[in-house]
Amino acid sequence: MSEQPIDAVRARIDAARSLFVLTGAGMSAESGIATFRDAITGLWSRFDPAQLASEEGFRADPATVWDWYAERRVAVRAAQPNAGHLALGAFERRRPGVLTLVSQNVDDLHQRAGNTGTIRLHGELLADRWLGPCARTPGCATQQARPGRPPRCADCGNLVRPAVVWFGEMLPPGAIEAAERAARGCDVALVVGTSGAVWPAAGLAAAARRAGAYVAIVNPHASEIDDEAHAVLRATAVQALPHLLRHD
Ligand code: OAD
Repeated sequence: MSEQPIDAVRARIDAARSLFVLTGAGMSAESGIATFRDAITGLWSRFDPAQLASEEGFRADPATVWDWYAERRVAVRAAQPNAGHLALGAFERRRPGVLTLVSQNVDDLHQRAGNTGTIRLHGELLADRWLGPCARTPGCATQQARPGRPPRCADCGNLVRPAVVWFGEMLPPGAIEAAERAARGCDVALVVGTSGAVWPAAGLAAAARRAGAYVAIVNPHASEIDDEAHAVLRATAVQALPHLLRHD
């Protein structure tokens, strides 16, 4: 690991035939969406993940958990992609087929910035799914949820939950495999705004490096995976990405 000027990283990206980008909550911080582990502003410094990000917590108090996600949905809908998101969207349009974008974020800001095919490791905040399989055999005819906090099936009582990945749950089918393939196949891996505390996403930088990629990190603070990087840029997503991905 070494501190390197941003232009050295930019030159690597310019020359890359295949660019892998992994984003975390810091990517959306400058859009006004709270991160999880930042000391004062992070969600997990104020809220208990065992209560709010686990199936057990949801089953214990569905209304509280549903309301918490409803508030986060309001914040995400009100937020706008920042200059970092927009730079990634523009890069994909300018250099089609070069970028694989993998995000741990459950917001939709990469999609709104125009990135397509983003691998969403931790699900989608704005989507719903059933908590479990239908309890009836054969399944309930309607599969309709009655509005509520949370909505529930009028027949079997199955609850609706946000389609995010909670602690202890599997990632969406195929997502980590596709992300690992892209990490192993890239020339340059850029890791933006993640603490590197959550696996398996945290292993992707090392996977890229082991396979021969040049690895760069963009983060204003130290992360748990800084040692995996050839270059660490102590900058925010908005400060670094427009410059790193710009077109002259
Ligand atoms: P964290 O909250 O753990 O880490 C956010 C990182 O972003 C920290 O390293 C900050 O230093 C950095 N950061 C803060 N502001 C930034 C900025 N403006 N630009 C760039 N970086 C900035 O978030 P994640 O690593 O994404 O899980 O957390 C991983 C997972 O843990 C999340 O996906 C979430 C959480 O529990 C699910 O939602 C399933």
